[in-house]
Amino acid sequence: MSQQDRLVIFDTTMRDGEQSPGASMTKDEKVRIGKALEKMRVDVIEAGFAAASPGDFDAIEAVAQAVKESTVCRLARAVDHDIERAAASLAKAERARIHTFIATSPIHMQYKLRMQPDQVVEQAIYAVKKARSFVEDVEFSCEDAGRSENDFLCRIIEAAIDAGARTINIPDTVGYAIPEEFGEKIRTLIERIPNSDKAIFSVHCHNDLGLAVANSLAAVANGARQVECTINGLGERAGNAALEEIVMGARTRHDLFNIETGIDTTHIVPTSRLVSSITGFPVQPNKAIVGANAFAHESGIHQDGVLKHRETYEIMKAEDVGWGANKMVMGKHSGRAAFRSRLEELGVTFESDSALNSAFARFKELADKKHEIFDEDLQALVSDTIADEAPDTFRLITLESRSATGETPVTELVLSRSGEEFRSRSEGSGPVDAALKAIEAVVESGANLLLYSVNSITQGTDSQGEVTVRLEKGGRIVNGMGADTDIVVASAKAYIHALNLLYNSQQRQHPQSDGV
Ligand code: KIV
Ligand code: ZN
Repeated sequence: MSQQDRLVIFDTTMRDGEQSPGASMTKDEKVRIGKALEKMRVDVIEAGFAAASPGDFDAIEAVAQAVKESTVCRLARAVDHDIERAAASLAKAERARIHTFIATSPIHMQYKLRMQPDQVVEQAIYAVKKARSFVEDVEFSCEDAGRSENDFLCRIIEAAIDAGARTINIPDTVGYAIPEEFGEKIRTLIERIPNSDKAIFSVHCHNDLGLAVANSLAAVANGARQVECTINGLGERAGNAALEEIVMGARTRHDLFNIETGIDTTHIVPTSRLVSSITGFPVQPNKAIVGANAFAHESGIHQDGVLKHRETYEIMKAEDVGWGANKMVMGKHSGRAAFRSRLEELGVTFESDSALNSAFARFKELADKKHEIFDEDLQALVSDTIADEAPDTFRLITLESRSATGETPVTELVLSRSGEEFRSRSEGSGPVDAALKAIEAVVESGANLLLYSVNSITQGTDSQGEVTVRLEKGGRIVNGMGADTDIVVASAKAYIHALNLLYNSQQRQHPQSDGV
């Protein structure tokens, strides 16, 4: 297939997606997402910004070692330190890319970088050459290209390609562009830059006006051959272009785009669920492709049409994007070997036998309460086990809640931290409120509760409830998740998980927060 017929899918869920407030991911979680993206056959996986914190460096290194088929990429500002850190974190990758960037819009150059355009061009050339001294595969991005002047873009991009950049990314950093205008911009750049045939043109669109996917597809129609996107459209502020929408847009309207992605679309829904459960960002029911209602035909007229001839109202098949792929995988008679092997297929490996044993014990407990166990149940169970085993964390030991019509609900619980147990009892407007108050009575975090939501993980009244709790303290935002067949327990777990993140996770540096 020629380069012209192929659309490269670049996933930045673990970098730009992670820049959503509260969406930070641990090393293990990044490895699980990385394996899922690889299985989906994503071409390039941006695993993070290694200068953000030492934890981020380790996470990128772990993804670089775990992923073999996809290229693993790391973002670096156009400075020595970032590029060296990028190269070091990718040293063990089978295929590595360094993605370096500098802002090119008048407003960013003047106020953020405080640099003259000539200096910006020099810095870009320097950064690309430096990155090329470590890896062959170098991508260069013109931050805020959507608001940059085309003449300046032509100049800096030509220089970056001469310096060795093999992919040129045109981000609409602030989500300002309109499809026709953005498509025109991409066509103009490709036509005007004399060496444009030596690089793949890429786009990276933000969704501030709800146009990220439309802008990306307009760019593809005008010659872009890489799209940067995220699972569920996660990302800074209103998010990035959603991977599932880009891939299914290009595929469903092949008549128009005449282009192929390498994506195995049947992994879309399971990966969407995995990302949602790890980050604590629920997927809205009416979200295209991956929302619970995306293929549900409520009205009688539609149902009648679909039953007579599916294409009357369906432009895609639910099974093509992985709906219904989640079979009942295990039950109470499944053994340890089957449990371990299914989790390995989901990208989860255990560092020790004791970690495997503890997850297996939880599985058995769950299988006693719920006789069909699905992949989503296993994912939630692993998240819970990993969260509980981190050192120096709060853990829920026992919980008892009482509520009856006409009586004030009460929750009593026992929490532990570093082996010390604390008992607490509280009343509340409901059992969940009482449970969270009982936890606060011990921890006294004083954090603000920004969000509390419950979703059922699978179908049926015996399903586990998955609770998301978003807490804010001192400007830091974290999302905690907890799952259980009892939603009071799930809520307590989610609240405790959020507290653990608040107390234990590192402060991270934002790649776009300051200049070079
Ligand atoms: O939005 C943006 O401009 C970015 C770049 C760093 C690629 O995320
Ligand atoms: Zn971005």
